[in-house]
Amino acid sequence: MSPSRKRKASTSEPLVEPSRREPLRAHLLGWYDRQKRDLPWRRTRDPYAIWLSEVMLQQTQVATVIPYWERFLQRFPTVEALAAAPLPDVLAAWRGLGYYSRARNLHRAAQEVVARFGGKLPSTAAELLCLPGFGRYTAGAVASIAFGEPAPLVDGNVARVLSRLFEVEGPPGDRAREARLWALATGLVPGERPGDFNQALMEHGATVCRPDSPLCLLCPVREECLAYRHGRVDELPPAKVRAAPKRMTLAVAVWAHEGRLLLARRAEKGLFGGLWELPAAEVDGETPDTTSATRLAEALGTPVTVHGHLGTVRRQLTHRALSLRLLRVTGSARPSHAPAFRELRWCTPEEASSLGMSTAMHKALEAAVTAGALRE
Ligand code: ADE
Repeated sequence: MSPSRKRKASTSEPLVEPSRREPLRAHLLGWYDRQKRDLPWRRTRDPYAIWLSEVMLQQTQVATVIPYWERFLQRFPTVEALAAAPLPDVLAAWRGLGYYSRARNLHRAAQEVVARFGGKLPSTAAELLCLPGFGRYTAGAVASIAFGEPAPLVDGNVARVLSRLFEVEGPPGDRAREARLWALATGLVPGERPGDFNQALMEHGATVCRPDSPLCLLCPVREECLAYRHGRVDELPPAKVRAAPKRMTLAVAVWAHEGRLLLARRAEKGLFGGLWELPAAEVDGETPDTTSATRLAEALGTPVTVHGHLGTVRRQLTHRALSLRLLRVTGSARPSHAPAFRELRWCTPEEASSLGMSTAMHKALEAAVTAGALRE
């Protein structure tokens, strides 16, 4: 770009000219009022319930979130109830949604809200940003939707909508592109009903300005869209270059004793942190059983012997291709605590399946029991 064409960074220049901003806001808000989906979190004004919806919606589709959101609120109806609950119960209510760090942060943030703010969620994006799990997106969403602050937000849908409306170049993840998108969102949000405006942007991206086959003929802001005017809707934004998921193999100890299985709870940090599992240790894909036994013995702090295989459970996460190799093991001493885990318990399969476990581990437990783990 030649110096003369560089965008000015003057602070006096409005981020979005009022002559562009006003029709765009009016058309989007009018469309939202007519077309918005009837979603349960749009019928409440409870900041806690709105916050919960935004956390769940971060990496999960609306249709999946609805029953989880309803059940979670029945189980933990207030910030106080959530703060007082044991973490494993919170993780159990989250099972199937994945990205469990969201649940751990939500729980910690609820405890802070009770301890520092008397159970009332702070009402500005700046204050919310200091709580665990709040990034710019969640802070903007909760501040604008629950409290009416003109705080901007950019999620994947909003990024696509703004990329097209303003012809923002660059692939998802590009720093200059992200900065420009946040600047545009900041320039557009001041005005009436900032929370509805932010939701209108997201709703528009989810239902009309879709990644593939966008519905430009139904678009309320087609007249304002630079990509539409220039025939570039299908080019913007360019596809993200995704790294291939990493393979991860876990040797999983299926240790049965008198109708019970050994279960372990992981430390709070890392993948599946705080969750229960059949005790597992990471191994290489081709690891022989003797090495798996050594890894499991290290994790459990007691020697174990492998007696055979009970199958392999595979599960695809966004960034990982998981293989859980189920190994029937025993040892001479039955451990009650272990170096690599927070807690150990000997459970019947029914007791085990009510613990907070990842979906992958739940499938492993089912597969192990079906393969005869408890038959001597
Ligand atoms: N995605 C995440 N939060 C949303 C909301 N409040 N409305 C529409 N889509 C969303």
